[in-house]
Amino acid sequence: MSESSTLAAADVLAVLGWLPDGRHVASAAIAGAGNMNLVERVTFDDGSTLILKRARGWVEKYPDIPAPIERAEVEAEFYATVAGTAAGTAMPQHLGFDKSQAANLFEDLGEASDGMTAYSGQLIGDDALDALADWLHQLHNLKTPANARLANPKMRALNAIHIFDYPLDPGNGFDLDSITPGLQAVADRLKHDGEFVAAVRRVSERYLGDGPGVLLHGDLYPGSWLTTPNGLFLIDPEFCWIGPREWDVGVLIAHLRLSGQPEASTERLITRYNDALDQALMNKVCGIEIMRRLIGVAQLPLTLDLAAKTALLDEARTLVLASTI
Ligand SMILES: Nc1ncnc2c1ncn2[C@@H]1O[C@H](COP(=O)(O)OP(=O)(O)OP(=O)(O)O)[C@@H](O)[C@H]1O
Ligand SMILES: [Mg+2]
Repeated sequence: MSESSTLAAADVLAVLGWLPDGRHVASAAIAGAGNMNLVERVTFDDGSTLILKRARGWVEKYPDIPAPIERAEVEAEFYATVAGTAAGTAMPQHLGFDKSQAANLFEDLGEASDGMTAYSGQLIGDDALDALADWLHQLHNLKTPANARLANPKMRALNAIHIFDYPLDPGNGFDLDSITPGLQAVADRLKHDGEFVAAVRRVSERYLGDGPGVLLHGDLYPGSWLTTPNGLFLIDPEFCWIGPREWDVGVLIAHLRLSGQPEASTERLITRYNDALDQALMNKVCGIEIMRRLIGVAQLPLTLDLAAKTALLDEARTLVLASTI
């Protein structure tokens, strides 16, 4: 794998005819904290900016880990699908896609803060909760034409490894004690809990299946929204898929739990979302997301001690096993 073939941002914009009239690129710099893609803020000589997001055949931060380059096309398809709908207004404007460069061009939302501050104790306010619920409601009620690209099988396959398989693999070699001393033993109990592992497996099969569903964001955690002076905006739908609405809601609720938001926040979100939810499925998704964020590789900037993580893992087990689907 070589990175030498990657063009500079200015060259990509020139080659693709994406340079705004009469402007020249003054600089390009990494736009924010991301792992998967090369995301740059391009500043022009008149001070205006755009966001150029490029996928490569690997995870940007870990070039040894292959990742489907098709994710750029999937992301473009998602933006095209929501364009002109209410859900589209809470996302940056999508200005272009080019397959040869696996590149997407977006409106720059500015130096917005993402939702990750929630993990260091910041309350996710009612305005943000309502905006998230409204956006999910709008997205999940789109009359989306069936579209094989939006089913996103390659990204689902990659994600499934990190959500369902790796965290519960007793031989994964991931040293959890280096993150929180004592966590390894707690995780090992879950990995050898046959009932729990089987229940997770059943949700995994559903995730990888091609059943009917609605268009999902697929990765709705605090890194997927930006708070700006103009309100909350959703970004990064590269893990979108067609599936049960409980997936997005369950994942989001898991992050409300992981970031210690009050119970009332979950209730507010669900009430405001206002569509019927299968509680059992949502609980399972929520429990699995909590589990994989605590004992899998996709770690979060959490400030929880062993007792807090153990309590969350107990809660995750209860959520996953509460009922059958
Ligand atoms: N339209 C935008 N306006 C302003 N900033 C943006 C925009 N799009 C992305 N960013 C910034 O770039 C960061 C990375 O973007 P994004 O999440 O799309 O990339 P990613 O590589 O897919 O990330 P991840 O590895 O978390 O999936 C965001 O967290 C944000 O700080
Ligand atoms: Mg991403």
